[in-house]
Amino acid sequence: MTQIVTVIGNPRPESRTHALARTLATALAAEFSGPPAQEVDLALLGPRVLDYEDAGVAAAVERVLAADVLLVASPTYKATYSGLLKAFLDRLGTGSLAGTAAVPILLGGAPNHLLAVDVHFTPLLLELGAFVPRRGLFVLESQVEGFAAFAGEWSASHAQALLAG
Ligand SMILES: Cc1cc2nc3c(=O)[nH]c(=O)nc-3n(C[C@H](O)[C@H](O)[C@H](O)COP(=O)(O)O)c2cc1C
Repeated sequence: MTQIVTVIGNPRPESRTHALARTLATALAAEFSGPPAQEVDLALLGPRVLDYEDAGVAAAVERVLAADVLLVASPTYKATYSGLLKAFLDRLGTGSLAGTAAVPILLGGAPNHLLAVDVHFTPLLLELGAFVPRRGLFVLESQVEGFAAFAGEWSASHAQALLAG
């Protein structure tokens, strides 16, 4: 059984970023025939991610640590991921995602920031110990509409690589 967990790093709830993550998680879950994906929507935790006594954030961290496949989605802010996402991931120990396959996803408006996902986002996940077997996904706002079809094709092509670690 492959447990997929998505982390959504948009400070706004029910964002397009959230929808992309959910779409990819659903497509991947169909490939694995596993349990439904679980979500950690950081918009619902907000500034509590900075509170190390907060039980809800601690539970979210545990959920992430239990993932087999972790989809981490963020809007592109200042050519990288959101500060909210970084504050949450700072809660995880270095190397604590060993054995977890990660897929970084950025949604952005600027084509010249396409490489931000591989240059800035993937190294963060590697530092946490995850393996990142495929290039990250940089989705332009203009590509959101067609993302469901893309997610199905991507999942069919790359699901097995996510299990290889
Ligand atoms: C503070 C801020 C900074 C942004 N910086 C960038 C950026 O550097 N590059 C980029 O492509 N888009 C940037 N954008 C656009 C967002 O990435 C884009 O609107 C967002 O991904 C949309 O996601 P959402 O609909 O889920 O909120 C920025 C938006 C905001 C609000």
